[in-house]
Amino acid sequence: MERTVVLITGCSSGIGLHLAVRLASDPSGSFKVYATLRDLGAQGPLWEAARARGCPPDSLQILQLDVTDSDSVAAARACVSEGRVDVLVCNAGRGILGPLEAHAAGAVDSVLDVNLAGTVRTLQAFLPDMKRRRSGRVLVTGSVGGLMGLPFNAVYCASKFALEGLCESLAVLLPHFGVHLSLIECGPVVHTAFLEKLEGGPGGTLDGVDAETRHLFSLYRRHCEQVFREAAQDAEEVVEVFVTALRAPKPALRYFSTERFLPLARLRLDDACGRSYLAAIRQAVFADQLQEAGAGGPEGPEPGAPPAGPQ
Ligand SMILES: NC(=O)c1ccc[n+]([C@@H]2O[C@H](COP(=O)([O-])OP(=O)(O)OC[C@H]3O[C@@H](n4cnc5c(N)ncnc54)[C@H](OP(=O)(O)O)[C@@H]3O)[C@@H](O)[C@H]2O)c1
Repeated sequence: MERTVVLITGCSSGIGLHLAVRLASDPSGSFKVYATLRDLGAQGPLWEAARARGCPPDSLQILQLDVTDSDSVAAARACVSEGRVDVLVCNAGRGILGPLEAHAAGAVDSVLDVNLAGTVRTLQAFLPDMKRRRSGRVLVTGSVGGLMGLPFNAVYCASKFALEGLCESLAVLLPHFGVHLSLIECGPVVHTAFLEKLEGGPGGTLDGVDAETRHLFSLYRRHCEQVFREAAQDAEEVVEVFVTALRAPKPALRYFSTERFLPLARLRLDDACGRSYLAAIRQAVFADQLQEAGAGGPEGPEPGAPPAGPQ
């Protein structure tokens, strides 16, 4: 039996790590997984997880791949001994949180380079062969932050919104070549190392930021803690959505790790001028402050709006 060759970016931790061992240990034995890491020095947890899941010895191979470096992407591709990748998972990503003006020099470029340009580089490296073979699946790790703007996540959301445009555009074209692309919309919160690895740390440098913004940021963080308590998902649960997409005979463009936040996404589309969404998200995130002021904020509250998440 010819195995399905899968290559995943960003497997040192979190969703990438769990997806790699999930597929490599699949009882069907039908996957050969190339789990790629930016830094091979960080492969310990992946091997540990593979051992714990009982992955057969030749089901998992680790390769170095830094999505910010085209040579590294090309070198990883050249190491795939089967000479083809059937399923590409563009998962590598980095978060950035805080007031826009608090982001350190280079931090914004770095996040856009990984999340957007890195995905483009990876797709450029692997898509031509899939198109030539008229076969292939691409899964891209999207985010609730790519479907709606969230305060203090402006740059992260910009990067994930950009992925929506990138992927939706490609998804129009690729089926002509027998290639299918799906976005796996994760979050808002998945238990991974994501928040520990935020570019510039948790919130950036707040020293030069005005007091009102700092206060709103503290309200936002309180809101995030609540979302975490109520809605955080385990990576193991989320990777099953990737497996569903991968196995779908006719894959959809978007899959969601939870439907809990879809009402907010719908609100954006239903009221295209944006008023309803902005009112709902303000109410959800800054509700404490609005209540203290005894008012509904600039646009008035949207009662019953679900909470927005941090990513
Ligand atoms: N966790 C959430 O709540 C959440 C929600 C929605 C979407 N997502 C998305 O899910 C994806 C995976 O994140 P996660 O939650 O699993 O967090 P994670 O544990 O921090 O995993 C992110 C992975 O991306 C890798 N990465 C960063 N820069 C890279 C580069 N230049 N080249 C290659 N790999 C690189 C990281 O490697 P290093 O360890 O070497 O930095 C790490 O392996 C990301 O795209 C993220 O935006 C996460």
